[in-house]
Amino acid sequence: MLTRAYQHSLRGSHLPAGQPLLEVDNISLRFGGVKALRDISITVSEGDIHAIIGPNGAGKSSLLNCISGLYHPQEGEIRLHTAAGSGATEAVGAHRADAERADGPVRTHTLTKLPPYKIARLGVARSFQNIELFSAMTVLENLMLGRHIHMKKGVLSSMLWVGPARRQEIEHRQLVEEVIDLLQLQAVRNTHVGALAYGVQKRVELGRALCLQPALLLLDEPMAGMNAEEKEDMARYILDVHELAHVSVVLIEHDMNVVMDISDQVSVLDFGAKIADGTPDEVKADPAVIEAYLGAEDEDAEVQEAVALMEEQVAQDAAEEENRG
Ligand SMILES: Nc1ncnc2c1ncn2[C@@H]1O[C@H](COP(=O)(O)OP(=O)(O)OP(=O)(O)O)[C@@H](O)[C@H]1O
Ligand SMILES: [Mg+2]
Repeated sequence: MLTRAYQHSLRGSHLPAGQPLLEVDNISLRFGGVKALRDISITVSEGDIHAIIGPNGAGKSSLLNCISGLYHPQEGEIRLHTAAGSGATEAVGAHRADAERADGPVRTHTLTKLPPYKIARLGVARSFQNIELFSAMTVLENLMLGRHIHMKKGVLSSMLWVGPARRQEIEHRQLVEEVIDLLQLQAVRNTHVGALAYGVQKRVELGRALCLQPALLLLDEPMAGMNAEEKEDMARYILDVHELAHVSVVLIEHDMNVVMDISDQVSVLDFGAKIADGTPDEVKADPAVIEAYLGAEDEDAEVQEAVALMEEQVAQDAAEEENRG
């Protein structure tokens, strides 16, 4: 799977595994009369894949938007803890225990009132529910844009090979090449993103977020709209990012099987409130979760019954019409 020697760490956080990385502390978010989030508290630990699940409109994307600074909750606080590394080598695929020796002092950042670009600079990277890439640019160019936060010289001068930007560009290119390798995007590096299959575009989006060397990666339905095979591929890439690059992930996903397979922790939202929290096994057995999900299935059954009745009625009307004519 790893086809080249990696030199760069793609992980922006050097906290020891298991320590609190992100604390969402009693946040509430309203849009006019709509309560999108009600008093939500969630702790994401360093080194985890932490899934957020829940029915449509439960508030999952709103929660991610609060973490990344697109929305600002009216109440509560969101804190990110980071630790600088000592500069020791911690390349992709290096053993996690080696990585942990590099811990520096822990710093706590309150994210709640920061604008998105400052939160991104602290190491919170994200992908969107709807793809947000530059479709007229190549895969490589889109990934280089993911590096811009770390560039002292502008992206444009880097692309044009101007002056001192050149050496910097080479450094960034090496890191981007490692992301391309990790996510197996070699074959499409120079293809315009708009020409790629949907599943590959989603992978490019993951790559762009990874190029930021995130402390925390937020993924909003990275497998939405994919068939079973594409989902399996994407799950594999997310696991690679997690296991080889040691990046902590918050993952929103509808497919329960995927979530239960790859997550360390799961938080369940329903109507803006958190109804359960725990390991996949704990959450699966939680009565509130079973009810929220079975409830949704019952609703589906009702809708299907209504549709069947209507179809029957339409067929009957058509038959009568034919008999008359
Ligand atoms: N910008 C906004 N303005 C007004 N209401 C919003 C806004 N964003 C979200 N909401 C409302 O907040 C609630 C939660 O929406 P959200 O998109 O967070 O749900 P979700 O769990 O991500 O759903 P889905 O599974 O469909 O993506 C919904 O009632 C939605 O209409
Ligand atoms: Mg959503």
